[in-house]
Amino acid sequence: MARTPREPNRLSSPRRVAGSVDDPAELAPAVSRPLVAWFKKTARDLPWRQTKDAYRIWVSEVMLQQTQVKTVIGYFHAFLDLFPTMKALAAAPEEKVLRAWEGLGYYRRARNLHAAAKMLVKHGHDNLPPDPVLLSTLPGMGEYTRNAVLSQAHGLALPIIEANSQRVLCRILGVQDDPARGPVKKWLWQSAAKLVCHSDPSAYNQALMELGALVCTPQKPGCLICPARPWCSASKTGEPESIPLKSERPAITRVWEVCMAACSGSGTHRCWLLFRRPATASRWAGLWEFAHQPMSQRDTPRDALYSLIQQLFPSDKPVETWNAGKVQHAITRYQVKLRVEVAQWEGKPAPQLTEHDAWAWLSPAEIATLPLSAPQRRVWEMVSAMPF
Ligand code: ADE
Repeated sequence: MARTPREPNRLSSPRRVAGSVDDPAELAPAVSRPLVAWFKKTARDLPWRQTKDAYRIWVSEVMLQQTQVKTVIGYFHAFLDLFPTMKALAAAPEEKVLRAWEGLGYYRRARNLHAAAKMLVKHGHDNLPPDPVLLSTLPGMGEYTRNAVLSQAHGLALPIIEANSQRVLCRILGVQDDPARGPVKKWLWQSAAKLVCHSDPSAYNQALMELGALVCTPQKPGCLICPARPWCSASKTGEPESIPLKSERPAITRVWEVCMAACSGSGTHRCWLLFRRPATASRWAGLWEFAHQPMSQRDTPRDALYSLIQQLFPSDKPVETWNAGKVQHAITRYQVKLRVEVAQWEGKPAPQLTEHDAWAWLSPAEIATLPLSAPQRRVWEMVSAMPF
């Protein structure tokens, strides 16, 4: 039977710029040498680049997921002052770890880091071993983090792809497709593995990230100063900024909430009612918050406050309430506005148990040591500064 020629398999390989090399392996090692040389000459002097300690590099890589370098630097020093070794981290209570992470967001990273440190210490390790298979079993240890740590700390020739290196690789390899698509992602990882530099994987991997951060930026790539330009398919198109294709962003959802900072007592004896979010919560698990709940556009803020009060304290009323202001916060696709109300109570009534059953009346000194989410810390700063 006659066979019809097959279309190239669109599902398993990305759409690419005309003239890009067929097999990315053809570019190695030509492209890696100038990248490594450029990195050694130009790289920023970042604190995690001054160490080969796997634990320190691991901490930096976990912090750098979703967070910018300039924000991470301060947190990196403060975290390592508190937990200088993996053993110190493993021995710390979770609340102390979350407090040190406060403001970085995406707290699951901290809980996983802590849980992974505990697992390793329990099995007799005092640092991350150079064992990719073992590391893959740890919570929160994705392929990127594992390979970044192992290449930088132990010199293993393993590829990395995060946001910056992904853009650089897509441009060099002419990937005119959405790197968030599964088959494109897979192809990129395979290609990154073919390109990784075996003589200095640490400098090479960091060079890809550094180039993406400083030169091969999303909007205005600096092709004229780029060490990879001679091999870059995107620069030859004249429109490198259009590569790779952008994923569609989900629409923003606006949410209004009323937040009640319930307090009792006065002056230095005043304390405040907060609850600890359950360890199983999908967001901000284990963090402390003031009472809050969504309010509909139809509710007046006063209706919303009294509906919250009615649920928590069906047979009590506050002595007085004040509007303290507004706190806005954006998280993933949500933009949350909190209407903050202070409510003064007589005594310390016990709230009706809710799904969040860990309620406590806490002193300001206690609140200072507990982890709060970023918007809730702002609520606390607002209400604790009120002159009453
Ligand atoms: N982003 C993720 N890892 C990084 C690193 N090691 N240096 C700079 N930026 C990064």
